[in-house]
Amino acid sequence: MGSFAQFHKRSIADRDNFWAEQAKTIDWQTPPQHICDYSNPPFAKWFVGGTTNLCHNAVDRHLKDRGDQAALIFVSTETEQEKTYTYKDLHLEVQRMAAILQSFGVVKGDRVLIYMPMIAEASFAMLACARIGAIHSVVFGGFASHSLATRIEDASPKVIISADAGSRGGKVVAYKPLLDEAISLSSHKPKAVLMVDRHLSEFAKVDGRDFDYAQEREKHLNAQVPCEMVESTHPSYTLYTSGTTGKPKGVQRDTGGYAVALASSIPNIFQGKPGETFFCTSDIGWVVGHSYIIYGPLIGGMATILYEGLPIRPDGGIWWSLVEKYKVSVMFSAPTAIRVLKKQDPALLTKYNLSSLKALFLAGEPLDEPTAKWISEGLGGTPIIDNYWQTETGWPILTICNGVEKAPSKFGSPGKAVYGYDVKLVDDQTGEELTGANQKGVLTIEGPLPPGNLQTVWGDDARFVNTYWKTVPNKMVYSTFDWAVRDEDGYFFILGRTDDVINVAGHRLGTREIEESISSHPNIAEVAVVGVADQLKGQVAMAFAIAKDASALGDATACLKLEGEVMKVVDSQLGAVARPSRVLFVSALPKTRSGKLLRRAIQAVCEKRDPGDLTTMDDPMALKQIQDVLG
Ligand code: PRX
Repeated sequence: MGSFAQFHKRSIADRDNFWAEQAKTIDWQTPPQHICDYSNPPFAKWFVGGTTNLCHNAVDRHLKDRGDQAALIFVSTETEQEKTYTYKDLHLEVQRMAAILQSFGVVKGDRVLIYMPMIAEASFAMLACARIGAIHSVVFGGFASHSLATRIEDASPKVIISADAGSRGGKVVAYKPLLDEAISLSSHKPKAVLMVDRHLSEFAKVDGRDFDYAQEREKHLNAQVPCEMVESTHPSYTLYTSGTTGKPKGVQRDTGGYAVALASSIPNIFQGKPGETFFCTSDIGWVVGHSYIIYGPLIGGMATILYEGLPIRPDGGIWWSLVEKYKVSVMFSAPTAIRVLKKQDPALLTKYNLSSLKALFLAGEPLDEPTAKWISEGLGGTPIIDNYWQTETGWPILTICNGVEKAPSKFGSPGKAVYGYDVKLVDDQTGEELTGANQKGVLTIEGPLPPGNLQTVWGDDARFVNTYWKTVPNKMVYSTFDWAVRDEDGYFFILGRTDDVINVAGHRLGTREIEESISSHPNIAEVAVVGVADQLKGQVAMAFAIAKDASALGDATACLKLEGEVMKVVDSQLGAVARPSRVLFVSALPKTRSGKLLRRAIQAVCEKRDPGDLTTMDDPMALKQIQDVLG
């Protein structure tokens, strides 16, 4: 172990040598010739000339030393299944899946969309794509037809892999009708749909398009599909995420940079070692699931737990029982999940032997002090490590790298800039760097972005440049769209988004997407959606709408009826994750004289804060109405 300050400094000042060393931790077919090509900013190319394969690094390279060790531990408290796949088993299953994809004509560079619950086959699907150089695009199973359709349209997948249903809290959630509807809504049609039939929900099959996974797998039991070695810069996947506009962006990730970033993060950030077990409670539909359920732990030679179910079913001790049973050394979750557990019997935390656990990592949303203290004490002093990052970055931007040098955490702070990240706070008006302690600015990263970060927005380089990059005096910086301050010790504190993105239970949602969905209801003329602080979920979405026909809103019952209808529209188009907690009706929305919605003022009123400067507001009564309907 050395000094973290030195480690970080070297990663910036001696960037190429630093990353050349890190690159040695993965297997290359051809070693990279050029570590970082930043000749065309802001597009960074990492490990140029190198050829490698993500699946090889995650699976095949471990066969020699740990073929019989656990690789994937699938646990479902929804279907009462529990199965461990060794690296050898995983290797077989991934080859079978890869052979099926090839039989559908999938080749390097083709897109494959994965819309699946948290089952082992979802990980076979991701790894199989990586194996043959196909680009996967996993869509969170909680998203509904409209969200899915925009992603199908944008990714234009040759094949879609799905399942009959997911299950949540014992309730079956059918996927196939949503998928069929999404395909009919999209102008792009996949050649084939591969269905994993869990026998949870009956579904209609489209002849010639839909194939049964079990039947196809039988045909390829002895498949031997070698890893296709691809250029380091070959895209491994796209993952859609929300921003300011209604249309989600396909974050595009490379192969070599991602593999190196994850390989280095396992020991340096997560303190994980080969042969140990990593338990990340996220979902494969989110970036945390991509990096720390699937690729990171496997590249690091660890066993990874893929868990389908709630944290409180059969009881609030389920996760800790898995920590004991599988000797989990690294656990990764979100503050919301811990706040859910906080409502359970605290004795469940001490019931199991958690001595294997080195640390609990939390990310995705601000970690409040009471939650951090509660879980830290409940786990008998196990370190709780906050980490801050984004879909775009693929791995942490801010945290405490205890694998490099042990350092204290500070409540409310995710920590310091991680190695590789040249983090700068800038004044949003002047673009000047803020170097003093405790000055509030936009958290930016000076280019080139480190390995593993997004290469571009899928199919839209201009959007990548225009959305994220600004030229501040003499340089280009990437904006995270988060406000932050840095204290005198270099610890950052995140203060919320600068844009219209909200964070509900760790799920990143665009208020514009929700507004667009609500507006599609025939009786909605206009709507504003804002994120409002919530004790359990961090934030919830609140909608204020103007009805086209206000006479239909005669009394409270009529309002509740329309509110219910609007919620149904959001449920069926975007999914229940995006459903606003309330839809309240007003006759006017607060706007500036130039017609811009004053979302921040609405949010402030909802949170009982001072709405600030309202001199540009057109109609002050509109804000008063918001206050009134809130009661
Ligand atoms: O606003 C920040 C918040 O979540 C956003 C990124 O969300 P997503 O793309 O879903 O990626 C999550 C990867 C962990 C950020 O712009 N956020 C993420 N982590 C934290 C956080 N806010 C405060 N503290 C964190 N640890």
